[in-house]
Amino acid sequence: MSDTAPSRVHTQVGIVGAGPAGLLLGHLLHLAGIDSVVVEKHSRDYVIERVRAGVLEQGTVDIMVKAGLGDRLLRDGMRHGGIYLAFLGQRHRIDFEDLIGASITVYGQNEVVKDLIAARCATGRPLHFEASDVRVNGFEGTEPRIQFRADHEDLEITCDFIAGCDGFHGICRPSMPATSWHAYEREYPFGWLGILANAAPSSDELVYSLHERGFALFSMRSPSVTRLYLQCAPDESLDAWADDRIWDELSARLGTADGWLPNQGEILQKNVTGMRSFVAEPMRCGRLFLAGDAAHILPPTGAKGLNLAVADVVVLSRALEAFYRHHRRDLLDAYSDVCLRRVWRAQRFSWWMTSMLHRAPGGDGFDYRRQIAELDYVTSSRAAMTSLAENYVGLPMTQR
Ligand code: APR
Ligand code: PHB
Repeated sequence: MSDTAPSRVHTQVGIVGAGPAGLLLGHLLHLAGIDSVVVEKHSRDYVIERVRAGVLEQGTVDIMVKAGLGDRLLRDGMRHGGIYLAFLGQRHRIDFEDLIGASITVYGQNEVVKDLIAARCATGRPLHFEASDVRVNGFEGTEPRIQFRADHEDLEITCDFIAGCDGFHGICRPSMPATSWHAYEREYPFGWLGILANAAPSSDELVYSLHERGFALFSMRSPSVTRLYLQCAPDESLDAWADDRIWDELSARLGTADGWLPNQGEILQKNVTGMRSFVAEPMRCGRLFLAGDAAHILPPTGAKGLNLAVADVVVLSRALEAFYRHHRRDLLDAYSDVCLRRVWRAQRFSWWMTSMLHRAPGGDGFDYRRQIAELDYVTSSRAAMTSLAENYVGLPMTQR
């Protein structure tokens, strides 16, 4: 920090974090004629290049299109009318279109972020990258402030509201007094080893597989790039995973009796992520509203993280619009409850998919056979398939 007084700027909504939550909120507010300033700790390249999930619910696609963000998404996004569940060497298709008349779109989160940054820049509204020493305060009273340092200058944003969109490791949630919120949490005793491979996807749709050796997932990013995951230990070292071992394990866990296998190619990227479920309640403290990963984390098995972030900011932008247009506070007051209902449904679904498809360390033959029986039921009962389809494709955006 320098000795000179910080430059002060006022805005209506101060947004911490330029991930999907913060950027989409900024855009929805812009469309409603509401000013915002976005403050991001990392560089533009880092934010764009971070490899994350890539499944968009139908409701998420509809929101993006309605917000004028659909050009590349509709051109390059891959619409999938279903997914496969694989076990005992067979793939079983869950046909979303037939069951509920809906689909998902595979479009990398980094592409979403690229589109959102381009849209933000086109509005000319402020977006500060590489902000250091970011702090939020005053939100329990009437003068919320975001303080940070960027471009060798101390800056202070005074605002009416702060949106804490700074992800799980951000500073907004921990800035809320410990007595004002509660964390509900579950850690899983496994992680995912993910790779991005220069290989054309050998299936048109995702394959979630339970194998005796553990879970594996086949996904994709484009017609020439495959994304694959293997269940591993939460702290698995990548040193033990030479490329050949990864391909052998993926082939063993994903290959089916009809000869289907993922295509192999140069591995472009490898990473290990742990898995947890986490919810902060309430998602608000005074004039600070948490959205996205700052408020909740899910295991990736249900592909819900990005979609929940979008659902949160849709609710928040509508509440802020009602406040500025009609002086209504009721939607802001309802924000946390409305979001948490959807959050817990997504938590339940992600937990269920995770438990059904992973082998728990120490689990025995009983557990494995019970999981196979569950998969057998889920892939043969229309009622069970419909339930999976409804949750995977996403519940309606506006549901209270
Ligand atoms: N100050 C400013 N920005 C910060 C700070 C901070 N102290 N801490 C973190 N950030 C930034 C991060 O660098 C990141 O760009 O906040 C952003 C948060 O973005 P995400 O982690 O992508 O979270 P969110 O926008 O909620 O997106 C939803 O759900 O499951 C996931 O993969 C999904 O990342 C997606 C997320
Ligand atoms: C991905 O493509 O990265 C992906 C797909 C489905 C999931 C999780 C991740 O459930």
